[in-house]
Amino acid sequence: MSIFYVTPVTAEDYRRRARRFLPRFLFDYIDGGANRESTLGYNVSDFEQYRLIQRVMKNVDNVDSSTVLAGHQASMPMALAPVGMAGLFARRGETLGARAAQRIGIPFTDSTMGVCPVEEIQAAIRQPFWFQLYMLRDREVVQALLARARAAGCDTLVFTVDLPVPGLRLRDFRNGMVGTGLPGKLSKMAQLLWSPRWLLDVGINGKPHCLGNLSEFVSNPNDLNAFKTFVETQFDPTVTWKDIAWLRSIWPGKLLIKGVMEVDDAQAAVAVGADGVIVSNHGARQLDAVASSISKLPAIAQAVGAQTEVYLDGGVRNGLDVLKAVALGARGVMIGRPWIWAMAGGGEAGLDNLLGLFQQEIRAGMALLGVNRIDEVNRDVIELANAHAQGKAGL
Ligand SMILES: Cc1cc2nc3c(=O)[nH]c(=O)nc-3n(C[C@H](O)[C@H](O)[C@H](O)COP(=O)(O)O)c2cc1C
Repeated sequence: MSIFYVTPVTAEDYRRRARRFLPRFLFDYIDGGANRESTLGYNVSDFEQYRLIQRVMKNVDNVDSSTVLAGHQASMPMALAPVGMAGLFARRGETLGARAAQRIGIPFTDSTMGVCPVEEIQAAIRQPFWFQLYMLRDREVVQALLARARAAGCDTLVFTVDLPVPGLRLRDFRNGMVGTGLPGKLSKMAQLLWSPRWLLDVGINGKPHCLGNLSEFVSNPNDLNAFKTFVETQFDPTVTWKDIAWLRSIWPGKLLIKGVMEVDDAQAAVAVGADGVIVSNHGARQLDAVASSISKLPAIAQAVGAQTEVYLDGGVRNGLDVLKAVALGARGVMIGRPWIWAMAGGGEAGLDNLLGLFQQEIRAGMALLGVNRIDEVNRDVIELANAHAQGKAGL
């Protein structure tokens, strides 16, 4: 560790700061993936399989990173992904994230499992935002939640389909985040006492901590056992495309299906009327050993990109990753862990700073690719690291 002040400039810099700020079990809850965390690595490292193509002697005096995401004008092809319990990682975390997203001009997505209710976010930003939903067994609850989100100004529904059951995130077992035994509880208590800055700023001053959109069902998000019980009893593992057709019939806004990894699933989403698909493996928190999301993007974009909007999340860590995803056919990307690390490690200013850095990287990257507009970021600006494998990767 350096004894001099180091200005954070990357997601990784903020990750290190978040680690110092958060109780260990909360840091691991964000940082970890399922089982051996193989896919967690693939999501990030597979971006290295692609190389951007440098072009020179182009007039790049008018670089413009703006685009349209699900009908929203955005300053860059990026949105904040839904992250459950974000209000435990920084004080009123979802509202903080929504304000930062608004300032830079990108969409914010509130999770079903968010600490801040949709009404609190609406009061803070007074503009439309996105709402993420899981299918619950009780469809009346689903309808009530949707009506509430709509009334609070959510015009885009991100419907997550990759969590019929929760993935096995083993770090949560190891460090006492889940489990009811006394040793785990004592360990958690010690971790809380070891994090006095978090305890005061979020633990005490960030209350209430209930899951704002679901407070009738899960009262205490600090208790992951309550969360687990809720998921096990209320999340509906019987959901099929028929239910998405029903959802489509009752939701008048844009509908994005999140968690699609295969071409025929993307086609099924289009067939039931989705306005977009999000290529995602839930940030490697569900099925471990599944492929990275970036490796699945080209085929899906090729198959359904003309009919629907294709998005990607998982492993995006800087502005050049964003450009790679766009070049491979994504209309935009979502970031999960990076925005959480930035706000946990640097508060609202930290998140502003990281989003600003993404934007600078995107704009400088576009200039060095020789393009001025996002719709010029296409297959012409990207190649495989191993150029002989081009055909295999659908390039
Ligand atoms: C701590 C944490 C909580 C998450 N909670 C949700 C959630 O409530 N709903 C959801 O659809 N996805 C959730 N995700 C997945 C993210 O929306 C996103 O798919 C993923 O984080 C993208 O990968 P990245 O973290 O590598 O950017 C969560 C991810 C993390 C890290």
